[in-house]
Amino acid sequence: MVDFEQIKGFVFDLDGVIANTSAYHAKAWHQLADELGVEWTDDLANQLKGVSRMDSLNLILKSGGKENDYTEDEKKKFAAEKNDNYLKLLETLDSSEILPGMGEFIKDISERHYLISLASSSKNSPRVLEKLNLAKYFNERVDPATLKHGKPDPEIYRRGAEILNLKPEECIGLEDAIAGVKSINGAGETSLGIGDSKLLHEADIIFKDTSQVTLENIKNAMLIPSR
Ligand code: G6P
Ligand code: MG
Repeated sequence: MVDFEQIKGFVFDLDGVIANTSAYHAKAWHQLADELGVEWTDDLANQLKGVSRMDSLNLILKSGGKENDYTEDEKKKFAAEKNDNYLKLLETLDSSEILPGMGEFIKDISERHYLISLASSSKNSPRVLEKLNLAKYFNERVDPATLKHGKPDPEIYRRGAEILNLKPEECIGLEDAIAGVKSINGAGETSLGIGDSKLLHEADIIFKDTSQVTLENIKNAMLIPSR
């Protein structure tokens, strides 16, 4: 693992790291899975985390053995329906739903002049950041529509460092998803996984929840790598 002193920037996932919107994504997918007659399990929910809209739909269909049952047009309709349901759940979203400590952490790193970018697979991320009143802290954002490959491919995190004009080894990526941790590792950044250490065991540093995410804790954890 690199030294903490080398770090110049942070590349953030959004859903499940900055706000609890991953629960809203899950709720909207669960609703669609019920309609399609696909059993909703914790394992399926974990597989979907961090994964793009169409890739998520394909994983749901595959899980129910229905991957060949629908045309591309029908699939687009299902994905649009899920997004409409997700957007309804976002209507009341505000800064009170920022996960514990994350508002303070983002403000702190910004004041200390670390560079900050967003590497979320969500096309709704600009809207979510605005509603959380956090958009002003982000120097750059990767537009997921411009990517060839979604997480776990390293492309999004590699781009997250590039747009800050930083080398990957100068960045820490923050993730709650297995696919996201793989993407950070593949990009050559330091991975900070937030959540279940069994699921996120590939991360360089693992914190059990967002309240542990402080510069001091990161600095200490970088002295004792978990991987
Ligand atoms: C994030 C979430 C996923 C979601 C994906 C696409 O990575 O973790 O659950 O499917 O973004 O989001 P979108 O808002 O574009 O459908
Ligand atoms: Mg996430």
